[in-house]
Amino acid sequence: MVRNILDVVDLSVEEINDLIKLACDIINDPKAYSEKCRGKKLATLFFEPSTRTRLSFEAAMYELGGSVLGFSEAQSSSASKGESVADTARVVSCYADIIAMRHPKEGAPRVAADNASIPVINAGDGGHNHPTQTLTDLLTIYREKGRLNNFTIGFCGDLKFGRTVHSLINALSRYTGIKIVLISPEELKLPSYVKKDVLMAKGIPYVQTTDLESVMPELDILYMTRVQKERFFNEEDYLRLKDSYILNMKKLENAKKDLCILHPLPRVNEISKEIDNDPRACYFKQVLNGKYIRMALMLTLLEEAAR
Ligand code: NCD
Repeated sequence: MVRNILDVVDLSVEEINDLIKLACDIINDPKAYSEKCRGKKLATLFFEPSTRTRLSFEAAMYELGGSVLGFSEAQSSSASKGESVADTARVVSCYADIIAMRHPKEGAPRVAADNASIPVINAGDGGHNHPTQTLTDLLTIYREKGRLNNFTIGFCGDLKFGRTVHSLINALSRYTGIKIVLISPEELKLPSYVKKDVLMAKGIPYVQTTDLESVMPELDILYMTRVQKERFFNEEDYLRLKDSYILNMKKLENAKKDLCILHPLPRVNEISKEIDNDPRACYFKQVLNGKYIRMALMLTLLEEAAR
């Protein structure tokens, strides 16, 4: 049976905790893992732009001793000739051992998984899901706070189109003592399906506001996001909303001393550069954690596939 990771709930809480433990082991002794995927090939099928996600998948596979093939834009693949995602997945299964796929259409990695004979990992599908960013976020929270329960987390910015937000809320809803503060302009509020199917269904306490500063003192973690320009229907709305929140030192005046500031990146200008050297800024550490958790995930999936 081939195992795919299309949504963060494809992993149980125990499995997520095991991946975090494995990532921590890799961090402590990377040499011990440097040959674990010798001879294995990762295919990165990126139909949408990416820096961190694609390069961290690739770096992760190289550091496990494996190799990488793939494409970084739809234009350089047969998609530009009209090939379906289903056919591409079937073809790539002949060349590689595992696929990481990003696509602008929600559900495209599911179609790939249904047609591939090797594991498929969703590396972001439209405004829907981004499970490996969530694993990255969880590893970062765990390393910074020492726990994955009992904290208040604020999500700020584009909560409507931000797939990393949807995935992380889904994951956190399975841990205890989590309170969620949703901070966004009216137009970019968390979709009602996430509120209904996740927050309400699991009884997670949450509040919604448009004002970041008024909730700042309560937060243990602040998850900033970029306004997702590419998912807007018109430029005018984007221009009006893009600078809704710009985090600067002034806005942090009433924040907790041990606040942990996360951002999946890329940042446009929603976090002022003056914050980068503040010890509370964890977004560049998050980038590095992304490589280690992807090493843990690919190693685990490839070991399962070999059984
Ligand atoms: C995010 C994404 O692609 O959804 N980036 C990432 O994977 N690190 C966030 C974003 O693009 O804003």
